[in-house]
Amino acid sequence: MSSIKIQKICCIGAGYVGGPTMSVIADKCPDLEVRVVDINKDRIEAWNDSDLTKLPIFEPGLDRIISRTRGRNLFFSLEMEKSISDADMVFISVNTPTKTKGLGAGQASDLSWVEASARQVAKYAKGHTIVIEKSTLPVRTAQAIKEILKTTTNRENQKNDISKTFSVLSNPEFLAEGTAINDLEKPDRVLIGGEDPEAVEALVNIYLNWVPSEQIICTNLWSSELSKLAANAFLAQRISSINSISAFCEATGADVQEVAKAIGTDKRIGDQFLSAGPGFGGSCFKKDILNLVYLSGYFGLPEVANYWNQVVLLNTWQQDRIYKIVLEKLFGTVNGKNIAILGFSFKANTNDTRESPAIRISCDLLEEGANLSIYDPKVSVERVEEDLEKTSFNNQGTWKMVNSIPEALKNVDAVLIITAWDEFFGLDWNYLASLMRSPAWVFDTRSVINRQEIENTGINLWKLGEGS
Ligand code: UDX
Ligand code: ADP
Repeated sequence: MSSIKIQKICCIGAGYVGGPTMSVIADKCPDLEVRVVDINKDRIEAWNDSDLTKLPIFEPGLDRIISRTRGRNLFFSLEMEKSISDADMVFISVNTPTKTKGLGAGQASDLSWVEASARQVAKYAKGHTIVIEKSTLPVRTAQAIKEILKTTTNRENQKNDISKTFSVLSNPEFLAEGTAINDLEKPDRVLIGGEDPEAVEALVNIYLNWVPSEQIICTNLWSSELSKLAANAFLAQRISSINSISAFCEATGADVQEVAKAIGTDKRIGDQFLSAGPGFGGSCFKKDILNLVYLSGYFGLPEVANYWNQVVLLNTWQQDRIYKIVLEKLFGTVNGKNIAILGFSFKANTNDTRESPAIRISCDLLEEGANLSIYDPKVSVERVEEDLEKTSFNNQGTWKMVNSIPEALKNVDAVLIITAWDEFFGLDWNYLASLMRSPAWVFDTRSVINRQEIENTGINLWKLGEGS
């Protein structure tokens, strides 16, 4: 048994990872007190809203867990100092976006938020504190955190004559948005990297409340950090691989769904993550691969860097390819044409739009002068506005957000399906065709439409990865 008894946990960062992860820990460990802190006041207020539809993130099943844990042993607050100083264990779960300026811009991760968090921990912690990297980080970031904790603490200790000590662990999160609660409750594995056996055991003991011991993998710090980057790179690589085959299918008359099924039944390949689509989005894949590319260059491995960089290049190419097909089918111009965008989030069952293929494709169409009507069941108009304004340089068209599918399709020349929300399956295309202008096109990038559904409606259908 670890001699470290954990009673209070603090998590810095109430985002897509920190919020759901701490909710599940609080749910599974009712004897632990879990405090999630953030510098963003609006976000904390939203987490504390009595109306559970106003939680800052949409994640199926999250509201159910929040309703039974919040105020019992789960608290969301702005109170950084007390939450950290009371805690036996602090998770760092803050944003680590790609650097936009300076050395490594466009590839390396910006660690400003992680560093600020480490400094806060060094300043406010009391006694012995286990500090856990939850955010995905470049390999050897734990070393930087250790140094910040050590040097800042030495100065603090001299000043206040108190002793504080730290153990740093890496415990990357593998949840996927949209299935976060299931992924957290029934993880394939939990990964813990660290050098202090007592600290590792203390964290293992928390997970043992609901995860079988054989699914808890303990490694050294650097393996744990690298495994997270490698797992995301491998997953993204599968998507770029199947997307490259989707283009091949369109050129040859093969069908990418049939190919995916045929290769996926080989146990060595497996059937997961073989859905061709408009390219991967989300906050992790692109950022983590670019980070891997940057680190490969840094460690003098240019061939490795080039290999992984190609996965990202193919992803961008896939998005550009779709936009160019829309343009080509609409007689080479979308200027003044009306186009419906169905789905703006990067995947179904989340309101997250980070790196969503919908952003790039919409901006390209806007720059060509298209008028877009955008429908997404969960993404807010403010989110879309920020995404489009940040990305579009020379917007010649117009866009509006609408509240229903029929409203989106009224008088449009084309529909572009970008996210596979459940409600886009099995639509009444006979009725929808009557709302559209003729000739009407549907561009299905997620295989939500069965070709028979659209027969006799007069609509022209283009499906990604399906030869004509
Ligand atoms: C990913 C990893 O899956 C998760 O383990 C890690 O912790 C964070 O990054 P996430 O980005 O939330 O999770 O979602 P994921 O389901 O992996 O989808 C990422 C993107 O790939 C989405 O845009 C999705 O539409 C796309 N995708 C996924 C495909 O295009 N085809 C597939 O077969 C699977
Ligand atoms: P992720 O998907 O990794 O969870 P998010 O951007 O959704 O990323 O969430 C990260 C959260 O971390 C944000 O709510 C942000 O305000 C918060 N954050 C960033 N830096 C700090 C900090 N120094 N102290 C507290 N919270 C922070």
